[in-house]
Amino acid sequence: MATEIFEKVQQVLEEIKVDSPQNPEEIEQFRIRYLGSKNIIKPLFGEIRNVPNEKKKEFGQLVNAVKQAAEQKFQQLKSAAESAADQAEGADIDLTAPAEPVDLGSRHPISITLNRIIDIFSRIGFAVAENREIEDDWHNFTAMNTPEDHPARDMQDTFYLKDSTKMLLRTHTSSVQARTMTSQQPPIRIIAPGRVYRNETISARSHCQFHQVEGLYIDENVSFADMKQTLLYFAQEMYGPETKIRLRPSFFPFTEPSAEMDVSCFICDAEGCSVCKYTGWVEILGCGMVDPEVLKNCGIDHEKYTGFAWGMGIERQAMMLYQINDIRLLFENDARFLNQFKSAW
Ligand code: DAH
Repeated sequence: MATEIFEKVQQVLEEIKVDSPQNPEEIEQFRIRYLGSKNIIKPLFGEIRNVPNEKKKEFGQLVNAVKQAAEQKFQQLKSAAESAADQAEGADIDLTAPAEPVDLGSRHPISITLNRIIDIFSRIGFAVAENREIEDDWHNFTAMNTPEDHPARDMQDTFYLKDSTKMLLRTHTSSVQARTMTSQQPPIRIIAPGRVYRNETISARSHCQFHQVEGLYIDENVSFADMKQTLLYFAQEMYGPETKIRLRPSFFPFTEPSAEMDVSCFICDAEGCSVCKYTGWVEILGCGMVDPEVLKNCGIDHEKYTGFAWGMGIERQAMMLYQINDIRLLFENDARFLNQFKSAW
């Protein structure tokens, strides 16, 4: 009798081993048969009372082993079925198909315009010099020959830092001229791009923050003719080989003589349009020969060296190049506006 029961349990164990359910339904049947609430292993535990005392322990262990074998096999079957299902899903993926398009964004029109300017000047040996936006009074004004109470300070309504009459947001990139000349001796050939600030009412034409590129060239025997040729080269590279320039006498405290430079309007070929206000010319920069006072202030020998400088706004040029009619668009970060520059340089 006892041997029979042992054999019966062995038989169930064998059965579990050879049972090989193939699909989810068969696996479920396996579970019901061996692990469900009415499974066939449970009654085997009851048989223990028919087993002689000295065999009870062995019998108990055997039935437990059967139960464990069923549980183990079920777990294996389940995870094999799950990974098969995963693979089947993966089988649909075409690894050679083109990827989902990634939205790469685009360069800002100010960056595009600035990159062009940097590229043009770096080809003739100008290095990029960047410097601070929070500047002191001396570098922004005094060193640039604009002492306190000089009326020219009124041209640039300035943001001063709270509790300070000495620290300010730079009003122009000309401060980088002073920064450069006080830290290095000629020859100096730099362009200084960056953001500048003025206390101006925001409108379609003006903003309290904008960008400039300063230029500075100091060496022996640098003349006004060198400046004119350099700026003509720039204008023709930027706006096309037919572009003409026009220098109009002007005043800046840091240059003598000073000029404002216009380029012939490339939109209407100088015929007259709304961009050039029907004059055929568009003003893009101020320039001049560096005033000897500025050289003196910055510790450069003004008997030995001469030089020229210029400062130009980037917004004005970007607006002209891309025919943008409101400067505020450049600062609003509206993706619908910015996405239009995807294919730009
Ligand atoms: N700093 C002047 C401005 O913001 C622009 C300028 C004019 C810069 C003449 C120069 C220059 O270097 O020579 O209006």
